[in-house]
Parts: sequence; C-alpha cells; structure tokens
Amino acid sequence: MSIELIGSNVVVSNNKIKIQQKKHVMTKIVETPTLKTERLILRPLSIDDAPALQKLFNNWNIIKHLNENVPWPYPDDGAYMFFKNDVLPRVKKHQAHIWTITLNSTPIGLLEYRHTPKFNTDQENRGFWIGEPYWNKGYITEAVITVNDFIFFDLGVEKMILDNFKENLASRRIKEKTGATFLKTTTRPHRGGTIEMDIWELTAKNWKAFREEKIRN
Ligand SMILES: CC(C)(COP(=O)(O)OP(=O)(O)OC[C@H]1O[C@@H](n2cnc3c(N)ncnc32)[C@H](O)[C@@H]1OP(=O)(O)O)[C@@H](O)C(=O)NCCC(=O)NCCS
Repeated sequence: MSIELIGSNVVVSNNKIKIQQKKHVMTKIVETPTLKTERLILRPLSIDDAPALQKLFNNWNIIKHLNENVPWPYPDDGAYMFFKNDVLPRVKKHQAHIWTITLNSTPIGLLEYRHTPKFNTDQENRGFWIGEPYWNKGYITEAVITVNDFIFFDLGVEKMILDNFKENLASRRIKEKTGATFLKTTTRPHRGGTIEMDIWELTAKNWKAFREEKIRN
C-alpha cells in the first residue's frame, strides 16, 4: 500500500493511520483567479496583452528598476517573446501566478507572484510594474493588498521574500505601506557595476495582523 499526501507525513502504527503536518506545508495548486480591487481588475496574463504592455514597458524609467536580465534597448517583440517563452510556461508549470493589471479594461501593468525564486541572485517572490502615466495613484498598493489576500489566505503561503533596489523609493514605500518587515541591504552585480538591494519579508502572521489593524481603523 502506498499513501502520499502533499504537505503531510503519513505514519502507520497499530493499524491506525496518523497524518502529521510537515513543517513547511506546500501550497495548493490553484489556477490564477481574476481578482477585483476598488478600481482595478487583475486578470490572468494573456499573450494578447503583449502589444499594449509592450508600449508601456518600453521605458527606461521602468526597466532601470528591474533586474539586468531585462534587455535595454528593449526589443520590439520583447513583451511577446517574454510572455511566450518565459512567463506563460512558468504559469503552466504552476511556478507562478501572473496578472495583467487592467483599468477600465485597459492593460496598465503586471504583477507576478513566484512560488520559487526565478534567479539564484534574485530571492524575491514578487514583481510588479505599472505604466508611467499611472504612477502615484495608489494602483499598485491596491493590487498588492488584494494579491496578498489571495497568496496568504487562499494559497496558504507562510512567508514572502520581497526586494527592491535601494534607490527605488516608490517600491520601498509600497512595502512599508503593506506590512513588510525590512531585513537587510545587500549588494548585487548590475549592468556592469553593482547596486544596493533592500530585502524584506512578509509573513502570513504579519499580513493577518496588518489586515485586522486596517479593519479596526
Ligand atoms: C514602483 C511602482 C510599481 C509603483 O506603482 P504605483 O502604482 O505608482 O504605486 P502607489 O501609487 O501604489 O504607491 C507609490 C508610493 O510611493 C511614493 N513615492 C513615489 N515616488 C517616490 C519618491 N521618489 N520618494 C518617496 N516616495 C515616493 C508615493 O508617494 C506612494 O506613497 P504614498 O501613497 O504614501 O504617497 C511604479 O513606480 C513602477 O512601475 N516603477 C517602475 C518598475 C518598478 O520599480 N517595479 C518594482 C521593482 S522592485
């Protein structure tokens, strides 16, 4: 007889089966849902979003804040090829959830949650960007809150690691505004030089406390 339960150890003794939870419980396999915030709809990324997102993403003010694997100058088919060869295969393998952020049905940015970090140097679980015309209107904060609810409450994730270049004050502010705890600053190679990187964590416990505090106030 073979019994296997994801996230659990099965122990057979005295003909009784006991199930012990593993210390690090694996998250459930869940398809990426459409999520609604007050002003936005976050829907699973589609290859059809490539032309609209390409136009907004082809901007050094966005790309300079991202890891050096993003090419610059950005190729004309950059978004299409990235979605086809990198993003959508990872979603299919259940390694990530990736949403197109839409405002009045128009794609304005992306938000990604990775179950496992993508690069050795890049330990974070989350990435986001939004087109420059939409900055500083609270959109990413709004999207992050709804996605965090999904990650912690629906998927049952216990902890997220987050990062941003130290100089990226908007990204830093979003973490401060959404319950993350600053851990440390590290240095990493970046486009022929080095860059300082802030590392943060957000635990399910802290997210729950943050949400309860928000409801109280
Ligand atoms: C980072 C980014 C996603 C933020 O999106 P956004 O929708 O503008 O974010 P929000 O409006 O929800 O919040 C931004 C916060 O940063 C603050 N902020 C913006 N620029 C700032 C600056 N130069 N100094 C200090 N705070 C700044 C805003 O005032 C706001 O905080 P507040 O609500 O307390 O006033 C967007 O700027 C972007 O796409 N940047 C390029 C890509 C990127 O950096 N991705 C993240 C990589 S870690």
